[in-house]
Amino acid sequence: MAGPIFDGIRACVFDAYGTLFDVHSAAARCRPELGDKADRLSETWRLKQLQYTWLRSLMRAHADFQQVTGDALDFAMATVGLDDPALRRRLMELYLQLDAYPEVPGMLRRLKQAGMTTAILSNGEPAMLAAAVHSAGIEASLDHVLSIEDVGIYKPDPRVYRLAVDRTGVPADAVCFMSSNGWDAHGAAHFGFRVVWVNRFGQPDEGLPGRPDARMADLSGLPALLGIG
Ligand code: LAC
Repeated sequence: MAGPIFDGIRACVFDAYGTLFDVHSAAARCRPELGDKADRLSETWRLKQLQYTWLRSLMRAHADFQQVTGDALDFAMATVGLDDPALRRRLMELYLQLDAYPEVPGMLRRLKQAGMTTAILSNGEPAMLAAAVHSAGIEASLDHVLSIEDVGIYKPDPRVYRLAVDRTGVPADAVCFMSSNGWDAHGAAHFGFRVVWVNRFGQPDEGLPGRPDARMADLSGLPALLGIG
């Protein structure tokens, strides 16, 4: 249902990992090798990957998301007692071909048909993002694929969200930002975007500055929320 807070949106900007792409699909494809370690490995990999982005930003020791993702995978594999370089290579390759969530391609097509500017704004480095976007077949529905590498610091630094304003030419209050990561949704709202928290994982509220304007369990209802039939 369209609400007044979503009037006047001209650009839809999406977080990538966890929001458009299923980060757990890499480990899921290795379930035969990983067995009952798959879920713990995948959860630890993701949590550590995000922690390393925040910690490197605070340490002023930036490394790109490919490096951070590999470092986090090393930690996760050690946590579950795995020492298998071939499996590590395979998981890193699979991270370049993550599944898009099923509603994503159709939802993006509808936004484009309605004349909306569409973009990804992600921690991912450009080659990783290009591979994931290509593998999901959604290039034609995206006007911009923006990487934090252009500002050299990770989310939720406000310079990252500013990049979307600068590159789309759309002011912050006419940007609707979507993330499944609660902390990213709060960071974007604190910056000044209008925000939909795509709470795919049923997480409780975050005690952080900024306030998402709406919540959804997935992205299928986004066009309707924006008044697009
Ligand atoms: C991203 C991370 C936060 O894509 O999932 O930026």
